[in-house]
Amino acid sequence: VTARVGVVGATGYAGSECVRWLLGHPEVEVEAVVSRRAGTRLGDAIPSLFGLTDLVIEEFDAARLARLDAVFLATPHGAAADLARALDASGAPLVIDLAADHRLDPGWTYGQPEWNAEAIRGARRIAAPGCFATAIEMAAAPLVRAKAVKGPLFVSAATGSTGSGASPSEATHHPERFANLRAYKVLSHQHVPEVKALLARVGGGAAPDLHFVPLSAPLDRGILATVFATVDEGLDVGALFAEAYRGKPLVRVRDGSPEVRHVRGTALADVAAFRDGSAAVGLCALDNLGKGAASQAVQCLNLRLGLPVETGLLAVPCTP
Ligand SMILES: NC(=O)c1ccc[n+]([C@@H]2O[C@H](COP(=O)([O-])OP(=O)(O)OC[C@H]3O[C@@H](n4cnc5c(N)ncnc54)[C@H](OP(=O)(O)O)[C@@H]3O)[C@@H](O)[C@H]2O)c1
Repeated sequence: VTARVGVVGATGYAGSECVRWLLGHPEVEVEAVVSRRAGTRLGDAIPSLFGLTDLVIEEFDAARLARLDAVFLATPHGAAADLARALDASGAPLVIDLAADHRLDPGWTYGQPEWNAEAIRGARRIAAPGCFATAIEMAAAPLVRAKAVKGPLFVSAATGSTGSGASPSEATHHPERFANLRAYKVLSHQHVPEVKALLARVGGGAAPDLHFVPLSAPLDRGILATVFATVDEGLDVGALFAEAYRGKPLVRVRDGSPEVRHVRGTALADVAAFRDGSAAVGLCALDNLGKGAASQAVQCLNLRLGLPVETGLLAVPCTP
């Protein structure tokens, strides 16, 4: 299979990361890159891609994109819904949306490859999870699937500044962000409903309530999520995680704390579980632009194409 694909929003953080993974994918040809900067060479808009591709940014043309095997939408919330409607009208065979617009839409399939693979394999409209959502799901789902959680889940997760996109804002301004740590959207983050929906499916209909405090960390890339749960004393949480992620090549179950620098620039999710008495903790570190966005969308494409989920996505992390 060589799949011909297009990326809309290719000059953004998530879209350019999609292009980065797709250019190195052995079964994919990137045929179109789209943004409002039509006519600019992608290698000029994204200097890290300079000399590695001749692609020139195009205007959004639903009829042209619909002739490709797959279209990735990496545009801001709201824009994605309009573009997806145009692609629907033109009969696009496969759309993978990285924005939040369709994650709770019953006409779309939730693109969580480790926890929803069967549905993704047959889907034509795939909504890739949010970055925080992915990290929380990876850290919580093994406990929820085992129906081991008593009472609510409490979650805290710290993220890097690329999580809010390429347009500068006060919250991403270097002097405000650097050497600082703060909570925001306390108990009101927009990712909670999609996490609850996924966990309800994983748990066979019942999901624990979930309370989430996001933290803004002085990083550019990376999320570390900590999920706190009450469980039965004696529960082997390490065994639950090992079992849940056995045979999942992009998930590594660690003995100690996962670290964001070990997954930086990769498609990996590093997870770990701990228990003391009835207190259990699940941890997940991932790159918000990788497993939290672009590489996760490519995982979905791989499943849809019948390829091994890790095709084109296995890169050895750099340290330090
Ligand atoms: N950043 C993350 O960690 C992350 C993680 C998971 C999901 N996501 C989701 O992915 C999407 C993109 O996020 P991002 O962080 O990459 O944002 P971003 O850096 O602001 O990129 C947005 C992209 O969309 C393009 N664009 C905007 N309006 C457009 C339109 N009407 N038609 C065509 N292109 C348009 C922009 O390009 P021009 O300005 O050149 O037009 C840019 O390439 C968002 O929905 C976000 O929620 C992001």
